[in-house]
Amino acid sequence: MTKIPPIKMPADAWDELNFPRPEENDFDRVVERAISRRGFLGGVVAFGSGAVAMSAGLLPGGAAEAAAPQSRFPFTPIAAQTDYAFHVPEGYKARVLVSWGDPLYDGVAEFNHETGGSVEESDKVFGENTDGMETFEIGGHQILAVNNEYVNSDINLPHTEDGVPQSAADVLKLQNLQGVTVVEIAEGADGWSVVRSSPFNRRLHHNAPMAISGPAAGHPLLKTEADPDGRAVLGTLGNCGAGKTPWGTYLTCEENFNGYFGATEETSYSDDVAAGYERYGMAAESQYGYEKFDPRFDTSKNPNEPHRFGWVVEIDPTDPDSTPVKRTGLGRFKHENAEVTLAPDGRVVVYLGDDERGEFLYRFVSTHPYVAGGDTDGLLDDGTLYVAKFNDDQTGEWLALTPETTGMEPADILIFARMAGSKVGATTMDRPEWVAVNPYAVEAYCCLTNNKNRGVKANAGGDATPVGGPNPREANNYGQIVRWYPDGDDHAADTFRWDLFVMAGNPEVHSDAYAGSSNINSGNLFNSPDGMAFDTSGLVWIQTDGEDSNEGDFAGMGNNQQLAGDPATGEIVRFLTGPRGGEITGLCWSADRRTMFVGVQHPGGSWPAEEGLPRSSIMAIKRDDNGLVG
Ligand code: FEO
Ligand code: CA
Ligand code: CA
Repeated sequence: MTKIPPIKMPADAWDELNFPRPEENDFDRVVERAISRRGFLGGVVAFGSGAVAMSAGLLPGGAAEAAAPQSRFPFTPIAAQTDYAFHVPEGYKARVLVSWGDPLYDGVAEFNHETGGSVEESDKVFGENTDGMETFEIGGHQILAVNNEYVNSDINLPHTEDGVPQSAADVLKLQNLQGVTVVEIAEGADGWSVVRSSPFNRRLHHNAPMAISGPAAGHPLLKTEADPDGRAVLGTLGNCGAGKTPWGTYLTCEENFNGYFGATEETSYSDDVAAGYERYGMAAESQYGYEKFDPRFDTSKNPNEPHRFGWVVEIDPTDPDSTPVKRTGLGRFKHENAEVTLAPDGRVVVYLGDDERGEFLYRFVSTHPYVAGGDTDGLLDDGTLYVAKFNDDQTGEWLALTPETTGMEPADILIFARMAGSKVGATTMDRPEWVAVNPYAVEAYCCLTNNKNRGVKANAGGDATPVGGPNPREANNYGQIVRWYPDGDDHAADTFRWDLFVMAGNPEVHSDAYAGSSNINSGNLFNSPDGMAFDTSGLVWIQTDGEDSNEGDFAGMGNNQQLAGDPATGEIVRFLTGPRGGEITGLCWSADRRTMFVGVQHPGGSWPAEEGLPRSSIMAIKRDDNGLVG
């Protein structure tokens, strides 16, 4: 029997409510066991006390420089904050670029704090809960492509009780406020703003037509009554992180798609469908009640519709008439972001995280190389998907997901990538969020945001979640960032070495592994690293989506924040803090690198205004001297 969840809760909490497993164990025992592992932890944290000597001999380049850290941050770090404001360092200013509900076109009403905007105009305004984003420069125009991940329906539908949709119109409004916004932006005397009615502006919401390509296109599991060919779908769901290809397209990543589907009738599904539903967390009732008013989301009528989500979608922001394409070659799971890089021979490598407790880290390698100016249409369709296996000795390998290794058919490997990963023995991870590739060294980083089930519960496929490797703490409430160094300096190589760039923690509260690695100090406390990107100066920026109670284990951490890390020294400092209740997610730069764009999701209070409804917004951050900001 599925419980009906309160409408406003993060997707992982909703999953937890629908699929309860035993309570986590007693904290004292957790700490005791972690202490006994300290020797091991010291060895894998590149900058941990006593670890540097080991790392210097074991790891390439930068780690050896940790002995003499030299700050290279061009700002004075700020203190943790607990207020409903957005703080940046002295010498910087942050202004709102765009907020949920702002018109994208002339003639559309300004945001209405009483109604949250009309249904009729809900597909003509900036969407809710801004997330991954990228900028594109096209013929002198600056275009921003940005994800609108999910809704805060109690705020979006203020006329309802607790945000539960009461009509098809309510559902349509929620559908229109999500997906992707493509919008032209320009900088004027008053800062950055939206270019209303620009021909580039478009909303790719939950009903926008999209194509399906790659090995799973046309598969029987992707066919529906409305689309008997299994090659055309409406909408993109749960758009979380993003990516940008070398050929100038935008990748939007479908994460918590499962929460949009429910069944209005008791239904018996075929074995493969039922097994997939279980692994991917399909519940009998959706998070937003879509299935009650839109039969497409009713799995008792359309059992294959969920198979058409959980993909990476490629969008051409330069062509407002182009049809977005779901690239099934990149696998189906709860995609976080899609970090694209090139192997030395030009093959396209895409790193992909599956953000769920105990799920996997993936890599796609294209069959054909990218050639500047060449045909790029099939590059993300034709290739091999891999999952990561991390060994305790700081080595690792990418395991190819093929019919030979999995015993599955090629399309099934992609549609049920999680099951394929389980079959080859991939490492269960502490919720892989964004991956970022260092542009100045052949290395990649992945935020493992937290995992209260580590060492406590198996994942949904029954895979154990042993404590060890890059997931070294039981009931991990703080998170860490793993980094890997591909062998032969080749992102397409099948083996790598790894270490931990940082283990978040609280040395004010704990003296064991939960204190974090030695590059954590009273000045940079944080938890739950999530968004991450490198700038052109080689700094790695880390955004958080964590517990902001500022109490107990989280005392001194304050609100969610963005920090900067130096890959060479491991030093990490706090750059900005967001409003209480909100998450910092989404990071990109203007073409001249004099503006940094940062997103705030689900803010508390009335932010960014003094009163009224809180509104997720993108901030434009500049230096007072108009210098470079990354
Ligand atoms: Fe949408 Fe895993 O963050
Ligand atoms: Ca995220
Ligand atoms: Ca998160």
